[in-house]
Amino acid sequence: MNTQASRRRFLQSSVALSAGAYLGTGLRTKESYGSTFSTPSEQPVVGFIGAGIRYHTYHCKQALSFGPCAGIADVDFVQLGRAQQAAIDIHRAKNLPLNIGVHEDYRHLLDRKDVDVIVIGSVDHWHTKMVCDALAAGKDVYCEKPLTLTIREGQQIVQALEKSGRVMQVGTQQRTEFGQRFAQAVAMIRDQRIGQVKRVTVCIGGSRESGVLPKVDPPKSLNWEKWLGQCPMVDYRAANEIVDDQGWGAGFPFSRAHRYYRWFYEYSGGKLTDWGAHHVDIAMWALDKLGTDIGTIKIDPLESKHPVAFKDGYPTKDDQFNCALTFKVQCTFQDGIEMHVRDTAPDLGFENGIMFEGSRGRFLVNRGKIVGKPVEQLADNPLPEGAIAGVYDEPTTASLDGFGDEGYHMKNFMECIKSRKQPASDVQSHNRMLNVCHAVNVALRLDRPVTYDPKTETFGGDQQANSFIARQQRKGYEITV
Ligand SMILES: NC(=O)c1ccc[n+]([C@@H]2O[C@H](COP(=O)([O-])OP(=O)(O)OC[C@H]3O[C@@H](n4cnc5c(N)ncnc54)[C@H](O)[C@@H]3O)[C@@H](O)[C@H]2O)c1
Repeated sequence: MNTQASRRRFLQSSVALSAGAYLGTGLRTKESYGSTFSTPSEQPVVGFIGAGIRYHTYHCKQALSFGPCAGIADVDFVQLGRAQQAAIDIHRAKNLPLNIGVHEDYRHLLDRKDVDVIVIGSVDHWHTKMVCDALAAGKDVYCEKPLTLTIREGQQIVQALEKSGRVMQVGTQQRTEFGQRFAQAVAMIRDQRIGQVKRVTVCIGGSRESGVLPKVDPPKSLNWEKWLGQCPMVDYRAANEIVDDQGWGAGFPFSRAHRYYRWFYEYSGGKLTDWGAHHVDIAMWALDKLGTDIGTIKIDPLESKHPVAFKDGYPTKDDQFNCALTFKVQCTFQDGIEMHVRDTAPDLGFENGIMFEGSRGRFLVNRGKIVGKPVEQLADNPLPEGAIAGVYDEPTTASLDGFGDEGYHMKNFMECIKSRKQPASDVQSHNRMLNVCHAVNVALRLDRPVTYDPKTETFGGDQQANSFIARQQRKGYEITV
Protein backbone atom coordinates (compact mmCIF):
# COMPACT_ATOMS: atom_id res chain seq x y z
CA MET A 1 0.00 0.00 0.00
CA ASN A 2 1.41 3.44 -0.83
CA THR A 3 1.97 6.14 1.76
CA GLN A 4 -1.18 8.11 1.13
CA ALA A 5 -3.33 5.02 0.96
CA SER A 6 -2.09 3.61 4.25
CA ARG A 7 -2.53 6.94 5.99
CA ARG A 8 -6.02 7.27 4.55
CA ARG A 9 -7.01 3.76 5.64
CA PHE A 10 -6.01 4.37 9.27
CA LEU A 11 -7.75 7.71 9.38
CA GLN A 12 -10.92 6.50 7.70
CA SER A 13 -11.37 3.71 10.17
CA SER A 14 -10.93 6.11 13.05
CA VAL A 15 -12.86 9.03 11.61
CA ALA A 16 -15.83 6.76 11.29
CA LEU A 17 -15.60 6.45 15.03
CA SER A 18 -15.09 10.10 15.66
CA ALA A 19 -17.24 12.23 13.43
CA GLY A 20 -20.69 11.01 14.19
CA ALA A 21 -20.27 8.49 16.93
CA TYR A 22 -19.62 10.97 19.70
CA LEU A 23 -22.36 13.45 19.17
CA GLY A 24 -25.08 12.75 21.62
CA THR A 25 -23.50 9.62 23.03
CA GLY A 26 -22.71 11.36 26.30
CA LEU A 27 -18.96 11.36 26.62
CA ARG A 28 -19.29 12.81 30.06
CA THR A 29 -20.12 10.30 32.74
CA LYS A 30 -20.59 10.33 36.45
CA GLU A 31 -16.90 9.56 36.86
CA SER A 32 -15.24 11.88 39.32
CA TYR A 33 -12.83 14.50 38.05
CA GLY A 34 -12.02 15.99 41.41
CA SER A 35 -13.40 19.15 42.86
CA THR A 36 -12.92 21.52 39.91
CA PHE A 37 -15.83 20.17 37.90
CA SER A 38 -18.14 18.44 40.30
CA THR A 39 -21.03 17.63 37.99
CA PRO A 40 -20.79 15.75 34.68
CA SER A 41 -22.26 18.67 32.72
CA GLU A 42 -19.41 20.91 33.87
CA GLN A 43 -16.65 18.59 32.63
CA PRO A 44 -14.88 20.12 29.64
CA VAL A 45 -14.57 17.80 26.64
CA VAL A 46 -10.98 17.99 25.42
CA GLY A 47 -9.45 17.75 21.95
CA PHE A 48 -5.70 17.57 21.36
CA ILE A 49 -3.70 18.90 18.40
CA GLY A 50 -0.17 17.53 18.15
CA ALA A 51 0.58 14.15 19.64
CA GLY A 52 4.32 14.16 20.22
CA ILE A 53 6.46 14.09 23.31
CA ARG A 54 4.64 16.88 25.16
CA TYR A 55 1.30 15.16 24.65
CA HIS A 56 2.68 12.05 26.33
CA THR A 57 4.67 13.76 29.08
CA TYR A 58 2.02 16.26 30.16
CA HIS A 59 -1.05 17.16 28.09
CA CYS A 60 -2.83 13.81 27.95
CA LYS A 61 -2.43 12.88 31.60
CA GLN A 62 -3.06 16.36 33.01
CA ALA A 63 -5.93 17.53 30.79
CA LEU A 64 -7.78 14.22 31.02
CA SER A 65 -7.88 14.45 34.78
CA PHE A 66 -10.47 17.22 34.28
CA GLY A 67 -12.66 15.89 31.47
CA PRO A 68 -13.00 13.27 28.75
CA CYS A 69 -11.13 13.16 25.44
CA ALA A 70 -13.14 13.60 22.25
CA GLY A 71 -10.33 13.32 19.75
CA ILE A 72 -6.75 13.91 18.71
CA ALA A 73 -5.28 15.48 15.57
CA ASP A 74 -1.83 14.86 14.15
CA VAL A 75 -0.32 14.68 10.67
CA ASP A 76 1.53 11.46 11.47
CA PHE A 77 -0.63 8.41 11.96
CA VAL A 78 1.95 6.55 14.03
CA GLN A 79 2.01 9.46 16.46
CA LEU A 80 -1.80 9.48 16.34
CA GLY A 81 -2.06 5.78 17.09
CA ARG A 82 0.20 6.02 20.14
CA ALA A 83 -1.67 9.05 21.41
CA GLN A 84 -5.04 7.40 20.88
CA GLN A 85 -3.89 4.40 22.92
CA ALA A 86 -2.73 6.64 25.79
CA ALA A 87 -6.13 8.37 25.89
CA ILE A 88 -7.96 5.04 25.65
CA ASP A 89 -6.00 3.77 28.66
CA ILE A 90 -7.14 6.75 30.71
CA HIS A 91 -10.75 6.35 29.55
CA ARG A 92 -10.69 2.65 30.36
CA ALA A 93 -9.56 3.38 33.92
CA LYS A 94 -12.48 5.80 34.29
CA ASN A 95 -15.09 3.59 32.59
CA LEU A 96 -15.53 6.11 29.79
CA PRO A 97 -16.28 5.28 26.12
CA LEU A 98 -13.16 4.02 24.32
CA ASN A 99 -13.88 5.45 20.88
CA ILE A 100 -11.35 8.31 20.82
CA GLY A 101 -11.45 9.98 17.41
CA VAL A 102 -8.35 10.71 15.35
CA HIS A 103 -7.97 13.33 12.64
CA GLU A 104 -5.22 14.24 10.22
CA ASP A 105 -6.73 17.69 9.68
CA TYR A 106 -7.11 19.50 13.02
CA ARG A 107 -9.94 21.60 11.61
CA HIS A 108 -12.20 18.55 11.76
CA LEU A 109 -11.61 18.50 15.51
CA LEU A 110 -12.46 22.20 15.72
CA ASP A 111 -15.68 21.61 13.75
CA ARG A 112 -16.92 19.25 16.43
CA LYS A 113 -19.48 20.92 18.61
CA ASP A 114 -18.88 18.51 21.47
CA VAL A 115 -15.31 19.77 21.99
CA ASP A 116 -14.97 22.57 24.58
CA VAL A 117 -11.21 22.79 25.05
CA ILE A 118 -8.29 22.45 22.66
CA VAL A 119 -4.82 21.58 23.91
CA ILE A 120 -2.11 22.36 21.35
CA GLY A 121 1.24 20.56 21.43
CA SER A 122 2.09 20.72 17.75
CA VAL A 123 5.29 22.12 16.28
CA ASP A 124 6.08 25.81 16.84
CA HIS A 125 5.40 27.05 13.31
CA TRP A 126 1.83 25.79 13.55
CA HIS A 127 0.92 27.25 16.96
CA THR A 128 -0.43 30.63 15.88
CA LYS A 129 -2.63 29.36 13.07
CA MET A 130 -4.08 26.62 15.25
CA VAL A 131 -4.69 29.00 18.16
CA CYS A 132 -6.45 31.54 15.91
CA ASP A 133 -8.59 28.82 14.31
CA ALA A 134 -9.46 27.25 17.67
CA LEU A 135 -10.44 30.59 19.21
CA ALA A 136 -12.54 31.43 16.16
CA ALA A 137 -14.27 28.06 16.58
CA GLY A 138 -15.24 29.11 20.11
CA LYS A 139 -12.86 26.83 22.03
CA ASP A 140 -10.86 27.65 25.15
CA VAL A 141 -7.20 26.97 24.41
CA TYR A 142 -4.09 25.69 26.18
CA CYS A 143 -1.15 26.13 23.79
CA GLU A 144 2.45 25.20 24.32
CA LYS A 145 5.23 27.72 24.39
CA PRO A 146 6.61 29.29 22.25
CA LEU A 147 3.28 30.70 21.08
CA THR A 148 4.72 32.28 17.97
CA LEU A 149 7.32 32.07 15.25
CA THR A 150 7.39 35.83 14.64
CA ILE A 151 6.44 39.12 16.28
CA ARG A 152 3.61 39.54 13.76
CA GLU A 153 2.07 36.23 14.83
CA GLY A 154 1.89 37.50 18.40
CA GLN A 155 -0.15 40.47 17.25
CA GLN A 156 -2.50 38.12 15.44
CA ILE A 157 -3.05 35.90 18.48
CA VAL A 158 -3.77 38.91 20.69
CA GLN A 159 -6.32 40.12 18.15
CA ALA A 160 -7.91 36.67 17.84
CA LEU A 161 -8.13 36.29 21.60
CA GLU A 162 -9.72 39.69 22.11
CA LYS A 163 -12.21 38.97 19.35
CA SER A 164 -13.16 35.59 20.76
CA GLY A 165 -13.43 36.34 24.47
CA ARG A 166 -12.19 32.82 25.21
CA VAL A 167 -9.85 31.71 27.99
CA MET A 168 -6.29 30.84 27.04
CA GLN A 169 -3.24 29.55 28.90
CA VAL A 170 0.31 29.37 27.54
CA GLY A 171 2.25 26.24 28.49
CA THR A 172 4.96 28.02 30.50
CA GLN A 173 4.49 25.90 33.59
CA GLN A 174 7.53 27.35 35.34
CA ARG A 175 5.19 30.16 36.41
CA THR A 176 3.18 27.81 38.62
CA GLU A 177 4.96 24.48 39.10
CA PHE A 178 8.42 23.21 40.21
CA GLY A 179 7.71 23.57 43.92
CA GLN A 180 6.88 27.29 43.47
CA ARG A 181 10.64 27.95 43.13
CA PHE A 182 10.28 30.42 40.28
CA ALA A 183 7.32 32.20 41.86
CA GLN A 184 9.39 32.43 45.05
CA ALA A 185 12.27 33.99 43.07
CA VAL A 186 9.88 36.58 41.66
CA ALA A 187 8.50 37.31 45.13
CA MET A 188 12.05 37.72 46.50
CA ILE A 189 12.93 40.26 43.81
CA ARG A 190 9.68 42.13 44.39
CA ASP A 191 10.43 42.16 48.15
CA GLN A 192 13.87 43.66 47.48
CA ARG A 193 15.70 40.66 48.98
CA ILE A 194 18.79 41.42 46.87
CA GLY A 195 18.29 45.19 46.92
CA GLN A 196 18.51 46.96 43.57
CA VAL A 197 18.80 44.39 40.76
CA LYS A 198 21.86 45.03 38.59
CA ARG A 199 22.21 41.99 36.41
CA VAL A 200 20.31 38.83 35.58
CA THR A 201 22.02 35.94 33.83
CA VAL A 202 19.80 33.47 32.03
CA CYS A 203 21.41 30.18 30.97
CA ILE A 204 19.44 27.99 28.59
CA GLY A 205 21.94 25.65 26.92
CA GLY A 206 22.92 25.69 23.26
CA SER A 207 21.11 24.29 20.25
CA ARG A 208 22.27 20.95 18.86
CA GLU A 209 24.48 20.12 15.90
CA SER A 210 23.42 17.46 13.41
CA GLY A 211 26.03 17.41 10.64
CA VAL A 212 24.72 16.96 7.11
CA LEU A 213 21.33 15.23 7.00
CA PRO A 214 20.76 13.34 3.75
CA LYS A 215 17.60 13.77 1.66
CA VAL A 216 15.38 10.76 2.30
CA ASP A 217 11.72 9.92 1.87
CA PRO A 218 9.56 11.15 4.76
CA PRO A 219 8.22 8.40 7.04
CA LYS A 220 5.25 6.69 5.37
CA SER A 221 3.06 7.68 8.29
CA LEU A 222 3.84 11.40 7.99
CA ASN A 223 2.08 13.94 5.79
CA TRP A 224 5.19 16.04 5.21
CA GLU A 225 3.44 18.74 3.20
CA LYS A 226 0.94 19.36 5.99
CA TRP A 227 3.64 19.18 8.68
CA LEU A 228 5.48 22.01 6.84
CA GLY A 229 2.33 24.12 6.80
CA GLN A 230 3.20 27.80 6.31
CA CYS A 231 6.95 27.08 5.82
CA PRO A 232 8.63 26.71 2.42
CA MET A 233 8.15 23.33 0.73
CA VAL A 234 11.52 21.59 1.03
CA ASP A 235 12.85 18.05 0.85
CA TYR A 236 12.60 15.94 3.96
CA ARG A 237 15.98 15.21 5.52
CA ALA A 238 16.90 12.73 8.22
CA ALA A 239 19.98 10.95 9.53
CA ASN A 240 20.34 7.23 8.80
CA GLU A 241 21.00 6.39 12.42
CA ILE A 242 19.36 7.21 15.71
CA VAL A 243 21.70 9.09 18.06
CA ASP A 244 19.57 9.55 21.18
CA ASP A 245 18.67 6.40 23.08
CA GLN A 246 17.29 8.35 26.01
CA GLY A 247 15.60 11.68 26.69
CA TRP A 248 12.87 13.26 24.60
CA GLY A 249 14.57 12.46 21.29
CA ALA A 250 14.91 8.75 22.03
CA GLY A 251 14.00 6.51 19.11
CA PHE A 252 13.89 9.31 16.51
CA PRO A 253 16.71 10.15 14.08
CA PHE A 254 17.89 13.74 13.73
CA SER A 255 15.58 15.16 11.07
CA ARG A 256 13.69 18.24 9.98
CA ALA A 257 10.58 16.99 11.77
CA HIS A 258 9.73 15.16 14.98
CA ARG A 259 11.52 16.33 18.13
CA TYR A 260 14.43 17.99 16.34
CA TYR A 261 12.59 20.63 14.26
CA ARG A 262 13.35 23.12 17.08
CA TRP A 263 16.95 23.40 15.87
CA PHE A 264 15.89 24.97 12.54
CA TYR A 265 15.07 28.69 12.35
CA GLU A 266 12.53 27.83 9.66
CA TYR A 267 10.31 26.08 12.23
CA SER A 268 11.36 27.47 15.59
CA GLY A 269 14.05 29.60 17.24
CA GLY A 270 16.52 27.13 18.75
CA LYS A 271 17.17 27.42 22.48
CA LEU A 272 15.83 30.97 22.65
CA THR A 273 12.28 29.85 21.96
CA ASP A 274 12.69 26.39 23.50
CA TRP A 275 14.15 27.25 26.93
CA GLY A 276 14.30 31.02 26.62
CA ALA A 277 10.51 30.92 26.57
CA HIS A 278 10.77 29.56 30.14
CA HIS A 279 13.78 31.25 31.72
CA VAL A 280 13.66 34.66 29.97
CA ASP A 281 10.00 34.64 30.99
CA ILE A 282 10.87 34.27 34.68
CA ALA A 283 13.64 36.88 34.45
CA MET A 284 11.42 39.49 32.77
CA TRP A 285 8.48 38.69 35.03
CA ALA A 286 10.63 39.19 38.14
CA LEU A 287 12.09 42.42 36.75
CA ASP A 288 8.58 43.67 35.92
CA LYS A 289 9.56 44.09 32.27
CA LEU A 290 6.47 42.56 30.69
CA GLY A 291 4.68 45.85 30.02
CA THR A 292 4.96 48.06 26.94
CA ASP A 293 6.23 51.08 28.88
CA ILE A 294 9.71 49.78 29.69
CA GLY A 295 11.51 51.67 26.93
CA THR A 296 13.72 50.19 24.27
CA ILE A 297 16.05 47.22 24.84
CA LYS A 298 19.55 47.22 23.37
CA ILE A 299 20.50 43.70 22.34
CA ASP A 300 24.17 43.02 21.78
CA PRO A 301 25.38 39.57 20.65
CA LEU A 302 28.78 39.54 22.34
CA GLU A 303 29.66 36.00 21.25
CA SER A 304 27.92 33.37 19.13
CA LYS A 305 28.54 30.30 17.03
CA HIS A 306 26.18 28.77 14.49
CA PRO A 307 26.70 25.33 12.90
CA VAL A 308 26.55 26.83 9.39
CA ALA A 309 27.57 30.15 7.85
CA PHE A 310 24.92 32.89 7.71
CA LYS A 311 24.47 35.63 5.11
CA ASP A 312 22.17 38.58 5.81
CA GLY A 313 20.59 36.65 8.66
CA TYR A 314 19.88 33.44 6.71
CA PRO A 315 21.73 30.12 6.79
CA THR A 316 23.70 29.46 3.61
CA LYS A 317 22.99 25.70 3.80
CA ASP A 318 19.69 23.92 4.31
CA ASP A 319 21.01 20.42 5.00
CA GLN A 320 21.46 20.52 8.79
CA PHE A 321 20.38 22.15 12.05
CA ASN A 322 21.12 25.86 11.91
CA CYS A 323 20.36 27.50 15.29
CA ALA A 324 23.02 29.01 17.57
CA LEU A 325 25.18 26.43 19.37
CA THR A 326 26.77 28.87 21.79
CA PHE A 327 25.90 32.47 22.56
CA LYS A 328 26.41 35.31 24.98
CA VAL A 329 23.97 38.15 24.45
CA GLN A 330 23.69 41.29 26.55
CA CYS A 331 20.23 42.87 26.71
CA THR A 332 20.28 46.29 28.35
CA PHE A 333 17.00 47.78 29.52
CA GLN A 334 16.55 51.53 29.53
CA ASP A 335 16.96 51.72 33.32
CA GLY A 336 20.41 50.14 32.99
CA ILE A 337 19.53 46.65 34.24
CA GLU A 338 21.35 44.02 32.20
CA MET A 339 19.91 40.67 31.21
CA HIS A 340 22.59 38.32 29.86
CA VAL A 341 21.23 35.43 27.82
CA ARG A 342 23.80 32.68 27.49
CA ASP A 343 24.06 29.00 26.66
CA THR A 344 26.10 28.38 29.82
CA ALA A 345 27.96 30.40 32.48
CA PRO A 346 30.98 28.45 33.83
CA ASP A 347 32.35 31.70 35.28
CA LEU A 348 29.22 31.97 37.45
CA GLY A 349 29.20 28.25 38.23
CA PHE A 350 25.97 27.14 36.56
CA GLU A 351 24.68 25.75 33.27
CA ASN A 352 20.92 26.12 33.43
CA GLY A 353 18.84 28.60 35.38
CA ILE A 354 18.53 32.25 36.24
CA MET A 355 20.96 34.13 38.47
CA PHE A 356 19.73 37.41 39.92
CA GLU A 357 22.45 39.78 41.15
CA GLY A 358 21.68 42.93 43.10
CA SER A 359 23.19 45.51 45.40
CA ARG A 360 22.67 43.21 48.42
CA GLY A 361 23.47 39.74 47.12
CA ARG A 362 22.62 37.15 44.51
CA PHE A 363 20.77 33.87 44.12
CA LEU A 364 20.20 31.17 41.51
CA VAL A 365 16.95 29.48 40.61
CA ASN A 366 16.32 26.58 38.26
CA ARG A 367 13.86 23.69 38.08
CA GLY A 368 15.68 21.75 40.79
CA LYS A 369 16.78 24.37 43.29
CA ILE A 370 16.76 27.92 44.54
CA VAL A 371 20.06 28.73 46.29
CA GLY A 372 22.16 31.58 47.59
CA LYS A 373 22.59 33.61 50.75
CA PRO A 374 19.37 35.64 50.29
CA VAL A 375 17.50 32.31 50.12
CA GLU A 376 19.19 31.05 53.32
CA GLN A 377 18.21 34.30 55.04
CA LEU A 378 14.53 33.47 54.50
CA ALA A 379 14.81 31.03 57.43
CA ASP A 380 15.12 33.97 59.85
CA ASN A 381 13.32 36.54 57.78
CA PRO A 382 10.56 34.90 55.72
CA LEU A 383 8.69 36.59 52.91
CA PRO A 384 5.46 38.28 54.02
CA GLU A 385 2.43 36.01 54.06
CA GLY A 386 0.87 35.67 50.63
CA ALA A 387 3.92 37.17 48.88
CA ILE A 388 4.45 34.15 46.62
CA ALA A 389 0.83 33.75 45.56
CA GLY A 390 0.70 37.53 45.22
CA VAL A 391 3.07 37.58 42.24
CA TYR A 392 0.18 36.88 39.87
CA ASP A 393 -1.81 39.71 38.36
CA GLU A 394 -5.02 38.05 39.42
CA PRO A 395 -4.12 35.97 42.47
CA THR A 396 -7.69 34.77 42.85
CA THR A 397 -7.86 33.21 39.39
CA ALA A 398 -7.53 29.71 40.76
CA SER A 399 -7.35 27.91 44.04
CA LEU A 400 -3.87 27.40 45.47
CA ASP A 401 -4.54 23.74 46.15
CA GLY A 402 -1.61 21.94 44.47
CA PHE A 403 0.20 25.20 43.60
CA GLY A 404 3.79 24.23 42.79
CA ASP A 405 2.99 20.60 41.98
CA GLU A 406 3.32 19.02 38.54
CA GLY A 407 -0.01 19.45 36.78
CA TYR A 408 -0.99 22.65 38.57
CA HIS A 409 -0.55 24.70 35.38
CA MET A 410 -3.26 22.68 33.66
CA LYS A 411 -5.41 22.92 36.78
CA ASN A 412 -4.98 26.69 36.79
CA PHE A 413 -6.25 26.72 33.18
CA MET A 414 -9.17 24.44 33.91
CA GLU A 415 -10.25 26.49 36.90
CA CYS A 416 -10.11 29.62 34.79
CA ILE A 417 -12.32 27.95 32.20
CA LYS A 418 -14.88 27.75 34.94
CA SER A 419 -14.31 31.22 36.43
CA ARG A 420 -13.66 32.85 32.99
CA LYS A 421 -10.67 34.65 34.51
CA GLN A 422 -7.14 35.01 33.24
CA PRO A 423 -4.81 32.05 33.80
CA ALA A 424 -1.29 32.48 35.21
CA SER A 425 0.45 32.41 31.81
CA ASP A 426 -1.47 34.99 29.85
CA VAL A 427 -0.98 35.64 26.16
CA GLN A 428 -0.02 39.33 26.37
CA SER A 429 2.84 38.91 28.81
CA HIS A 430 4.06 35.75 27.08
CA ASN A 431 4.17 37.57 23.75
CA ARG A 432 6.05 40.53 25.13
CA MET A 433 8.66 38.22 26.61
CA LEU A 434 8.83 36.00 23.53
CA ASN A 435 9.28 39.03 21.29
CA VAL A 436 12.51 39.71 23.19
CA CYS A 437 13.60 36.11 22.51
CA HIS A 438 12.76 36.63 18.82
CA ALA A 439 14.72 39.91 18.91
CA VAL A 440 17.74 38.16 20.47
CA ASN A 441 17.59 35.65 17.62
CA VAL A 442 17.51 38.49 15.07
CA ALA A 443 20.66 39.93 16.67
CA LEU A 444 22.30 36.48 16.65
CA ARG A 445 21.34 35.85 13.02
CA LEU A 446 22.58 39.26 11.88
CA ASP A 447 25.57 39.01 14.24
CA ARG A 448 25.23 42.66 15.24
CA PRO A 449 23.44 44.75 17.88
CA VAL A 450 19.79 45.65 17.40
CA THR A 451 17.46 47.83 19.45
CA TYR A 452 13.98 46.46 20.09
CA ASP A 453 11.07 48.68 21.06
CA PRO A 454 8.32 46.77 22.93
CA LYS A 455 5.89 49.67 22.43
CA THR A 456 5.97 49.65 18.62
CA GLU A 457 7.04 45.99 18.40
CA THR A 458 9.67 47.03 15.88
CA PHE A 459 13.40 47.59 15.66
CA GLY A 460 12.82 51.32 15.03
CA GLY A 461 14.35 52.46 11.75
CA ASP A 462 16.47 49.31 11.35
CA GLN A 463 14.92 48.01 8.14
CA GLN A 464 17.00 44.85 7.98
CA ALA A 465 15.99 43.82 11.50
CA ASN A 466 12.38 44.83 10.82
CA SER A 467 12.31 42.41 7.89
CA PHE A 468 12.25 39.59 10.49
CA ILE A 469 9.03 40.80 12.14
CA ALA A 470 6.90 38.73 9.77
CA ARG A 471 7.50 35.88 7.33
CA GLN A 472 5.98 34.98 4.02
CA GLN A 473 3.50 32.15 4.48
CA ARG A 474 3.01 29.38 1.95
CA LYS A 475 -0.18 29.59 -0.09
CA GLY A 476 -3.03 27.81 1.60
CA TYR A 477 -1.48 28.19 5.06
CA GLU A 478 -1.78 31.94 5.58
CA ILE A 479 -2.78 33.03 9.08
CA THR A 480 -5.86 35.20 9.19
CA VAL A 481 -7.79 36.63 12.10
N1 LIG B 1 6.26 23.34 28.41
C1 LIG B 1 7.28 22.50 28.28
O1 LIG B 1 8.06 22.30 29.21
C2 LIG B 1 7.47 21.78 26.98
C3 LIG B 1 8.21 20.60 26.92
C4 LIG B 1 8.36 19.97 25.69
C5 LIG B 1 7.79 20.52 24.55
N2 LIG B 1 7.08 21.68 24.64
C6 LIG B 1 6.47 22.27 23.44
O2 LIG B 1 5.49 21.38 22.94
C7 LIG B 1 5.45 21.46 21.52
C8 LIG B 1 5.63 20.07 20.94
O3 LIG B 1 6.92 19.62 21.24
P1 LIG B 1 7.28 18.08 21.17
O4 LIG B 1 8.60 17.93 21.80
O5 LIG B 1 6.13 17.31 21.69
O6 LIG B 1 7.42 17.88 19.59
P2 LIG B 1 7.14 16.55 18.74
O7 LIG B 1 7.86 16.72 17.45
O8 LIG B 1 7.43 15.36 19.57
O9 LIG B 1 5.57 16.58 18.52
C9 LIG B 1 4.93 17.54 17.72
C10 LIG B 1 3.76 16.85 17.04
O10 LIG B 1 3.03 17.85 16.29
C11 LIG B 1 2.59 17.21 15.11
N3 LIG B 1 2.17 18.15 14.08
C12 LIG B 1 2.93 18.84 13.20
N4 LIG B 1 2.13 19.53 12.35
C13 LIG B 1 0.85 19.25 12.70
C14 LIG B 1 -0.41 19.63 12.17
N5 LIG B 1 -0.52 20.44 11.12
N6 LIG B 1 -1.52 19.13 12.76
C15 LIG B 1 -1.43 18.30 13.85
N7 LIG B 1 -0.25 17.88 14.37
C16 LIG B 1 0.88 18.37 13.80
C17 LIG B 1 3.78 16.37 14.70
O11 LIG B 1 3.43 15.40 13.73
C18 LIG B 1 4.20 15.79 16.03
O12 LIG B 1 3.56 14.56 16.29
C19 LIG B 1 6.55 22.43 21.11
O13 LIG B 1 6.01 23.68 20.84
C20 LIG B 1 7.46 22.49 22.32
O14 LIG B 1 8.13 23.73 22.45
C21 LIG B 1 6.90 22.30 25.83
